[in-house]
Amino acid sequence: MKVQTPITKEHVDFYRENGFVKVDDMLTPEELADLRQYLEEAMQHDGEHTIRTDTKGGAYYRVLNQKVNTWRDHGGMALFTFHPRFAHAALELTGAKEIRVFHDHALWKMPEDSKPTPWHQDTPYWPINEAERGMMSIWIPLEDVNEENGCMAFVPKSHKLGKLPGINFRDPQNIFDYVEKGKLDDQRPVVVPLKAGSVTFHNGLTFHYAYANKTDRPRRVLAIIYMPDGITYSGKKHPVTDGLGLEPNQPLAGPLFPVVARRIENSAAQM
Ligand code: SIN
Ligand code: NI
Repeated sequence: MKVQTPITKEHVDFYRENGFVKVDDMLTPEELADLRQYLEEAMQHDGEHTIRTDTKGGAYYRVLNQKVNTWRDHGGMALFTFHPRFAHAALELTGAKEIRVFHDHALWKMPEDSKPTPWHQDTPYWPINEAERGMMSIWIPLEDVNEENGCMAFVPKSHKLGKLPGINFRDPQNIFDYVEKGKLDDQRPVVVPLKAGSVTFHNGLTFHYAYANKTDRPRRVLAIIYMPDGITYSGKKHPVTDGLGLEPNQPLAGPLFPVVARRIENSAAQM
C-alpha cells in the first residue's frame, strides 16, 4: 500500500538530529472531528481491556488523566491508533524496516490544580531491551495547545544521552541532575505550541515536559507509541505487557502489537 504523508526530508533530518519534530496538517478537520467524538466516548466508557492509571483525587491524575489502549475497547479509536498515515510517518522518520504499535494512550490534562508533566524520557518506563533503537511517540492534540493549557517542550539532542533513570510523576526528581556535566550545556528547551491537526513526534529518549493546564477545559491528547523492528521484551513490569505470558527477550510481536507500516525494498514507506 502506498501511503502519502506530510513528512519531508527536512522533517526527517530535524527529527534524527534533535529527537523530536513538529508536523503540520497531519489530520484533516474531518478526522479531528471523528477523533474528538471517539476519544470522548473512550474516556467515558470503562472497557474491559483499557487501563486507567489513576482516578480523580490521585496525585497522578493532577498530572495526567490517562487511559491506556483505548483501541482495544473502541473500534473508532483503533482506526486512529492504526492509522496508516501516522504509522508511515513514523516509518519515514525512524528509517525502520517496519513499525508496530506498542500501545496508545489518552492523555488528558485536567483543569483545577493541574500540574505540569515533569521533564522525563519515556524509554525508562517501557519493558524493552533496546533503549537505543528508536521507539517513539506521536502526540496528537485535539485542540490548539500552548503554554496556558499544556503544550509540550523538548530538549534538542537529549536523545543522544542514552537511557537515564525514570522520573516519578507524582514527586519528580530533576532529570537534569542525571546529565553528565558539559553534555547538554548548549541546549535550551524548545516550546512547541500546536494548532489542532498538527502533531509532534518524539524519540523515547528525548527529554520532554508539558505545562500545567490553567484553563477550565481538559487538554485532550491521543499519543501512540510505535516500535521499530527488532524490539524485544525485557520482563520489566508494565501495564500493557503484564499478564500476557511473555518470556524475557522474546520479540514484542503478535496480535496485540501489530505491524502498521512496512518498508519495501527500493521504495519509500509502503505496507
Ligand atoms: C503530556 O501529554 O502531558 C505528556 C506526554 C508525554 O509525556 O509523552
Ligand atoms: Ni512522555
